[in-house]
Amino acid sequence: MFPWFLSLWISTPGAWAQSPAPSDAQSTRVHLVTYCNEAQSSMGFLLASAAANGLPTVVLGFGDHAWWPEGLGRKINALRRFVLDSALKPNDLVLFADAYDVLIQSTEQEIRESFERLERRLNVSLIFNGDRDCAPRLPDVCTDPRPVDVWLHPRVYLNSGAFIGRTFAMKSILLQDPVSDVMPGGDQAFYQRKFMSHPHAMSVDTDCQLLCTVARNLDAEGLRQLSNGTVVFSSAATSVSIPSILHFPGGGHWPMWQQGLPSSVIQEVFRKRFPEQFKVLYDHIEVSADLRGVHHFRKRLQQESFLQVPCELSEL
Ligand SMILES: *[C@@H]1O[C@H](CO)[C@@H](O)[C@H](O)[C@H]1NC(C)=O
Ligand SMILES: *[C@@H]1O[C@H](CO)[C@@H](O)[C@H](O)[C@H]1NC(C)=O
Repeated sequence: MFPWFLSLWISTPGAWAQSPAPSDAQSTRVHLVTYCNEAQSSMGFLLASAAANGLPTVVLGFGDHAWWPEGLGRKINALRRFVLDSALKPNDLVLFADAYDVLIQSTEQEIRESFERLERRLNVSLIFNGDRDCAPRLPDVCTDPRPVDVWLHPRVYLNSGAFIGRTFAMKSILLQDPVSDVMPGGDQAFYQRKFMSHPHAMSVDTDCQLLCTVARNLDAEGLRQLSNGTVVFSSAATSVSIPSILHFPGGGHWPMWQQGLPSSVIQEVFRKRFPEQFKVLYDHIEVSADLRGVHHFRKRLQQESFLQVPCELSEL
């Protein structure tokens, strides 16, 4: 074991110059934060997978009037208030994840350890998940030509659906000033501009060491699911890794039919990794009506009775 000051000397990421000396690893907390203005059943992927790993999720923005993508300036401001106003320590980690399509597969300690490895390797304290194409395309953002074959392109572009960083880095780089609640291109355009103006202070996890986008089936994305449900990444360039945070944009969360039942890539992964939670949250078909929040009608068809139902639904 190195004494902490020696390992700090060896690994000092740039922005640490402005930060106080780090406390020991055990007292460095990971704060999982999401932004979600209304309840949807797909929140279960994040909330239940985090809970199963012992991580509580802080939900910001419930009840906000926010819409995709322009209205997402509110998401940035909510995160900013969280990072500024709370009693977070400068070296604590804030993990931001989108509410409806992210799954956590590691404990707080594993997330911290993977982050610290990547922080040393990339020499930055703020890391975003990587995408194969750049979005949004605006006159000043994402001006690279489109990849010829996007599915063969490495995950080099920033995706703001999941990112993690030290509190001091979030404060000093991303969230210095409040932003307009409404902005063209949404929050991702804002974070892309930050990346352009601070190319040495933030980075992208291009090979799924910690954060991984899954926008198609696992195979096509270089991932596979072990028999215990853990998703692992392997490529020629890297050894096998377990990305703690899986983000399923686009085709990763679009509905599909799997053996005659409605599903999605994220749901199949969740079902194998968290079978008990799957039963509670998703193994039913629910028909409900909600009259101004006070009168409810709710009918759940449990698994035994719904095996024939999907066929009927699919004919609708
Ligand atoms: C790490 O980043 C800092 C600040 O950007 C820079 O001064 C330093 O040279 C970098 N170290 C390495 C090994 O790249
Ligand atoms: C599943 O197995 C892998 C490989 O043995 C291990 O690293 C991982 O921690 C296991 N996951 C769970 C949830 O037990």
